[in-house]
Amino acid sequence: MRLEAPGYSRSGLVDVGEIDLALGEARFAWPDDLLATLISPSTAQMRYQNPLGLPQLRMAYLAKAASAQLQERQLDLANVLVTSGAKQALWLAFLVSVKDDSRVLLPRPGWPPYVAWTRACGGEIDWYDPTDISGSAPIQRLSSGEFTHLVINSPHNPTGCEYSQSVVDRIADAAEAFEVTIISDEVYRCFATGEASFVPHVSPKSGCVLVADSVSKSAGAAGLRVGFLIANESVVSSAAFLRGTVDSCPPGITQSAATLLLSPRSDRFRVGVRSFAQECVKRLIVVLRKDGISIQSSGALYVWACTKSDDGRLYLRDGSVLRGLPGSTFGESACLRLCPVSDDPQVAALLDMGQTVQEFMV
Ligand SMILES: Cc1ncc(COP(=O)(O)O)c(C=O)c1O
Repeated sequence: MRLEAPGYSRSGLVDVGEIDLALGEARFAWPDDLLATLISPSTAQMRYQNPLGLPQLRMAYLAKAASAQLQERQLDLANVLVTSGAKQALWLAFLVSVKDDSRVLLPRPGWPPYVAWTRACGGEIDWYDPTDISGSAPIQRLSSGEFTHLVINSPHNPTGCEYSQSVVDRIADAAEAFEVTIISDEVYRCFATGEASFVPHVSPKSGCVLVADSVSKSAGAAGLRVGFLIANESVVSSAAFLRGTVDSCPPGITQSAATLLLSPRSDRFRVGVRSFAQECVKRLIVVLRKDGISIQSSGALYVWACTKSDDGRLYLRDGSVLRGLPGSTFGESACLRLCPVSDDPQVAALLDMGQTVQEFMV
């Protein structure tokens, strides 16, 4: 018998009794009081919205960036486009900047849409190793002078590897020296130990750093579909124009909810999501090691386990079956990606975890 997993699952269907660790998001019951404040429709939110996104949401994003000391370049509202998730931000970033004579350096293993987007824009693909956290791998490749674009995703899906701010700065300097555009996917930044970002390298008027972000992972709110593209004014206005041809603006109601999620009122909640995620990842590593499975790396929402699995199943000695995403999905078939960040009772039992997100909201 097969049952549909609650919510959307990459694995699509999991067999009864299998523990679904395939989906890359923090899954938990939302605090009722937070939900109640987030959902407050008003007539203003029903109209077409500002094509760049609600000013108060863009302001909330920048205020958060500033509080994380990320605002050396005096970015303003014209540098922030609200998008339908980081996916739309990234797709627009590719569409605006990658051309048919572009040579794009992508992480492998890496998130598959980067490949699809580069190909759709006619660019040529080459690879670097994102697990070398010294950053030497992309920097060495850039110094060949052959590349026009570098895609960074730190912390990284699927390996969890992360660059420190000093490595990010070195990569940004190398990219500038070799006139390479950086597209930086920062959806997992909030789970990093150091929260390094390329945002300080976005120049308001010129420069070639495009950053994508969202509330999907940081607030466990992927269904809201609210993300951000942070770039110079001309990239933001080209992206806004293109987006406007297919989708006038992200929904007003979800933009208002995201504004609250980014405001200081939700600080404790976001801290709770982050700590919950870190605890779940830590506990899964213990469970796997006890079973004799070695861990290649971990971080953000993920454990990158050294085990080959063509169907994503991992059989533990006690008979449990974990369902992750096969490494081949990301271009590295020797490993398996597991996302244990969930308060699903089966996952909680596996991790021997009694605490909920609320209990981490300190
Ligand atoms: C590396 C990476 N970037 C972007 C996204 C998409 O984020 P969003 O839900 O905000 O579109 C994901 C989601 O799985 C991801 O893993």
